[in-house]
Amino acid sequence: MLQPIKLANKNFLSSLDTTSEEIFHILDIAKNFKNKNLNIELKDKVLGLIFDKASTRTRVSFQVAMSKLGCTTVDLNPTTSQIGRGEPIRDTARVLSRYCDILAIRTFKQSDLEEYARWSSKPVINALTDLEHPCQALADYMTIQEEFVDFKNVVLTFIGDGNNVANSLILCGALLGVEVRIASPKGYEPNSLVIKKAYEIYKNKDLLKITNDPNSAVLGANVLYTDVWSSMGEENQKERKDRDFDGFTLDSDLLDKAAGNAIVLHCLPAYRGKEISKEVFESHRNRIFEQAENRLHVQQALLTLLLS
Ligand code: CP
Ligand code: NVA
Repeated sequence: MLQPIKLANKNFLSSLDTTSEEIFHILDIAKNFKNKNLNIELKDKVLGLIFDKASTRTRVSFQVAMSKLGCTTVDLNPTTSQIGRGEPIRDTARVLSRYCDILAIRTFKQSDLEEYARWSSKPVINALTDLEHPCQALADYMTIQEEFVDFKNVVLTFIGDGNNVANSLILCGALLGVEVRIASPKGYEPNSLVIKKAYEIYKNKDLLKITNDPNSAVLGANVLYTDVWSSMGEENQKERKDRDFDGFTLDSDLLDKAAGNAIVLHCLPAYRGKEISKEVFESHRNRIFEQAENRLHVQQALLTLLLS
């Protein structure tokens, strides 16, 4: 039976907290959980969830993953706990790590997540920040692996905002050696530090392309991926972003330019008629919901490897 090997880093704050070998191991464990070839009971462990932003998939997949491991969760609502009243992160982290065995945090600033990790004696997982969504990227690459088996000849094109999801796809893609192309409107490119770090990791620098032209970026691509134009916390920029992202809808015209075997991914929630057309979404919904299901399996794998 496949033996889980603990991750070297205590925390999972960024895709860069794992090595390429560790990502392959997480995906392997996740696949075995999905196929019901692996049964692990961690017993009595408690995951604390602190979500400063809304969530359906991440929150529920963490809760169900813990339950499948024979463990439990505590869901802290910032508005009804002292977090919303401004109790310092360093105090919250020191208290919660005496009650919980691991924390999953969804918040705005990456630096706040890092502050939790600094003061917590227990592992901290990034459940999405403005900068990264590394758990999502694990499920995405699991879904890609299910389709293409290995990553060698895969071209992943992300069309849209150079946001948290794009940043984690870049970093995880760099570690896995996947060709990643990002097509964003001018001014909405991914984080420059993320791009710099990714180029340091890629052995072949040609494998990462950042462009403002979605039409050339999709040529021959095997995976087309998009995400909302206005992320959580950007609600007041919606009108401007809707205008700026004109021409970046993942529709059948773009899809026709991709490789014949191209698959479509979306982290969800999706806004049909904005970042993706209704037709493209509905004709690729099976894999998009498989991708959502994979959130559960990678979460279960990640928790196992951080807690064992
Ligand atoms: N994809 C994703 O993270 O979904 P939620 O916001 O519902 O957790
Ligand atoms: N970029 C989106 C992802 C949602 C899962 C956001 O941050 O709102």
